Amino acid sequence: MSSFDLIVRGGSVATAVDVMRADIAVKDGKIAALGSNLGDAARIVDATGRIVTPGGVDSHCHIEQLSAMGVVNADTFETGTASAALGGTTTVIPFVAQHKGLDLATVAKDYHALAAKGAIIDYALHLIVTDPTDVLLTEQLPELVKAGHGSIKIFMTYDAMKVDDEQVLDILLKARELGALVCAHAENHGMIKWMVQRLLERGYTAPKYHAVSHPRGSEAEAFNRLITMSELIDQPVMIFHVSTEEGAATINAARARGVKVWAETCPQYLFLTAQDLDKPGTEGAKWCCSPPPRQARDIEALWAALERGDLQTITSDHAPFSYDEKGKLSAGPNPNFKQIPNGMPGLQARLPLLFDAMVSKGRMEITDFVRLTATAPAQIYNIADRKGSIAIGKDADLAIWDTEKEVTFTDETMADATGYTPYVGMTVKGWPTTVVRRGDVIVDDGKLTGTAGTGQFLPRTGGKAAAPTGKIAPEFDPALNFGAKLI
Ligand code: URP
Ligand code: ZN
Ligand code: ZN
Repeated sequence: MSSFDLIVRGGSVATAVDVMRADIAVKDGKIAALGSNLGDAARIVDATGRIVTPGGVDSHCHIEQLSAMGVVNADTFETGTASAALGGTTTVIPFVAQHKGLDLATVAKDYHALAAKGAIIDYALHLIVTDPTDVLLTEQLPELVKAGHGSIKIFMTYDAMKVDDEQVLDILLKARELGALVCAHAENHGMIKWMVQRLLERGYTAPKYHAVSHPRGSEAEAFNRLITMSELIDQPVMIFHVSTEEGAATINAARARGVKVWAETCPQYLFLTAQDLDKPGTEGAKWCCSPPPRQARDIEALWAALERGDLQTITSDHAPFSYDEKGKLSAGPNPNFKQIPNGMPGLQARLPLLFDAMVSKGRMEITDFVRLTATAPAQIYNIADRKGSIAIGKDADLAIWDTEKEVTFTDETMADATGYTPYVGMTVKGWPTTVVRRGDVIVDDGKLTGTAGTGQFLPRTGGKAAAPTGKIAPEFDPALNFGAKLI
């Protein structure tokens, strides 16, 4: 009988700190040994000449979710996680999305059922809170956080989803008490609403005006307001999808003064610009996401912020809507830009785009690639005991990269249910041809072999990233004899 279930042999193993020549032996879904001459296994995967990285962790993606515009994402958990796996990702963190008036506990049950039925890869779930009632804050949130949903997402814009500043403070304070991490879509709602109205009144309705309707400053303003509120409560925050140079600078300034703020960006802000929305007719709808892609100078500023460490993760913000009446054109064949559901697919393209830019083209090191796409998100969202690295005892989640394989993105080659890719026509070098999840080969020579319903839920607390920083914010210091009761 073989001593191991699987050995991945002959590859260069990359972690967030190192690259080494090592075979990887797997037993019962876990990495059991690293080294050479590891003996025999029921299955051998030859990784000679390949780079082996941890399977990607995509900590921000929308799957089978009811969106802010009331349209459900194109992907089910099956199609979404299939596309993720085919792009080298083995863990996702999508959302339990409460809409106003809905019971969060019931919504959580519904999303769990969908994920359990469809997921091919492992998943944790963020809780989207849009309606922070007393019952939600005092009864449901404590129970749901205890049950393993260690992060809460808030929206500071979108009419259907937004919470106001007082509600942000309530949620931050509750998260602090529960040890949960608060993640935010932070844009200034008033500025966007005002711009939308003026543009539409003047007849500027084409998809490209979506980018104009989200002024650059709406991002930095909301970041600053959120960070200021997080300082008041002394509760860390994770800022989602940073898109502008000014936004990145705001985060840099906050971190420089010691505020615990984490932040991510996404491929759409590193590889696309607002000019991509400028297409004939309504086609630009495919590139409408919020915040919108920006300018070339923002792309450079975001890479610099990644290099500085001000942005710690790169997620897909996969938010797929088909280009038809069920998705982008749900308001009719000629929607104005405000009627177009926001979001674009990216679960499959995220890692190949980044591998090409960072590793094949040499913008950063392979260790940076691993850290930004797997190790750091696993640490920040507190699943690093199992995910995000290649080490003995961790889940055997691996992506095996053919570093020479070139792929040109076409709408047809993507496996998600969107029907198009915003990266159409781009060619990348480097592709994860074999993908392993908990020791099972779920992508074999570029073909999906994993099956629906085999993904596991990863319960987690907010972890270190969410814990209070130790100091009590002065506003709440009992010695100052005011504010203390708020805690
Ligand atoms: O346009 C986007 N990003 N849509 C998805 C929802 C969100 O904002 O996270
Ligand atoms: Zn968002
Ligand atoms: Zn999102």
